[in-house]
Amino acid sequence: MKQEPCYILGIESSCDDTAAAVLNHNKVLSNCITNQEIHNQYGGVVPELASRAHQANIIPVVDKALKQASIKQNDLSAVAYTNGPGLLGSLLVGESFAKSIAMGLNIPLIGVNHMQAHILANFIDQKEIEIPKFPFIGVNLSGGHTQILIVKNYFEMEIIGTTLDDAIGEAFDKCGKKMGLDYPSGPIIDKISKLGNPNKFSFPVPKVDGYNVSYSGCKTAFINFLEKEKKKNLKFIDENISDLCSSIQSNLIKVITQKIEAAVKKTGINCVVIGGGVSANTKIREFLKEKNESENWKTHIPPIEYTTDNAAMIGVAGYFKWKNKKFSALSSVAKSRIKF
Ligand code: KG4
Ligand code: ZN
Repeated sequence: MKQEPCYILGIESSCDDTAAAVLNHNKVLSNCITNQEIHNQYGGVVPELASRAHQANIIPVVDKALKQASIKQNDLSAVAYTNGPGLLGSLLVGESFAKSIAMGLNIPLIGVNHMQAHILANFIDQKEIEIPKFPFIGVNLSGGHTQILIVKNYFEMEIIGTTLDDAIGEAFDKCGKKMGLDYPSGPIIDKISKLGNPNKFSFPVPKVDGYNVSYSGCKTAFINFLEKEKKKNLKFIDENISDLCSSIQSNLIKVITQKIEAAVKKTGINCVVIGGGVSANTKIREFLKEKNESENWKTHIPPIEYTTDNAAMIGVAGYFKWKNKKFSALSSVAKSRIKF
């Protein structure tokens, strides 16, 4: 039997990307992003500038997403948007816009948790790729969060481990900044690492209880090491950039992979699903592929376009909420910190 179309408009504006996507059920018809170049010169996101840029970008990006999907506003079944966590000023731009669309078209409004959406990106219809089966271990690796979760269903995700200080993406970005790399440094470190030796320099892997992790120790050890070497040789970073990138990447990834291994061992759940910007990283992808082959884990890694912030993941999370009639009130308010 042919399924009735269900067109969901997804809107993401939690940080510095203004994104819109259109899905038919869990199939992506368009996935558009406007990056905010303005932050590069500051080496990090400036919240006030991000909100202003969202305000300027949101109408054009939604327009583009509808056009690419060949959908008219009136065809939409619901509008899903990120209601947290994130920068409040940025979230409010997406939320106000989503509310206007919901009111104007008289369609359901669906607030989506950004971190849940990173995991649910793995449920986007990819034709040949199998979707994960519940329950599974979810691993969220982003610029603001590092979480190990037990995912019971689309909406019930229990955090069993988190970072005690910096997030993994934040550690990549801060180490990159110290090496003079542009923001965000994660993808640049990943690229340069391919030319380097991961064992050239070694940094500590902190011992933290349970499934929690800590990144500030590795970051500080790395920064202190650079300072010390620069005193002996001013060109130390330039002369060793690929080995430095490769070694610190290897260290940062090891911190989380040893906790993933522990979670699989202790819970007996061997299905592991990752999400978030750092899930684009080559080393973590290699680790999961290797576990798939050698230890029979079932691992799910989203395609690159659904790893860093995007609206398709908000759309797919919105679709599952739509199916379960989990709608939001027009009076709901986005939050910079939000629980699952
Ligand atoms: O999920 P995301 O786009 O935004 C947040 O919700 O934070 O994640 C952004 C983070 C940045 O810290 C960026 O440096 C990192 O993801 N990132 C990477 C890679 N691609 C993005 N880190 C390591 N390797 C990559 N290939
Ligand atoms: Zn994110």
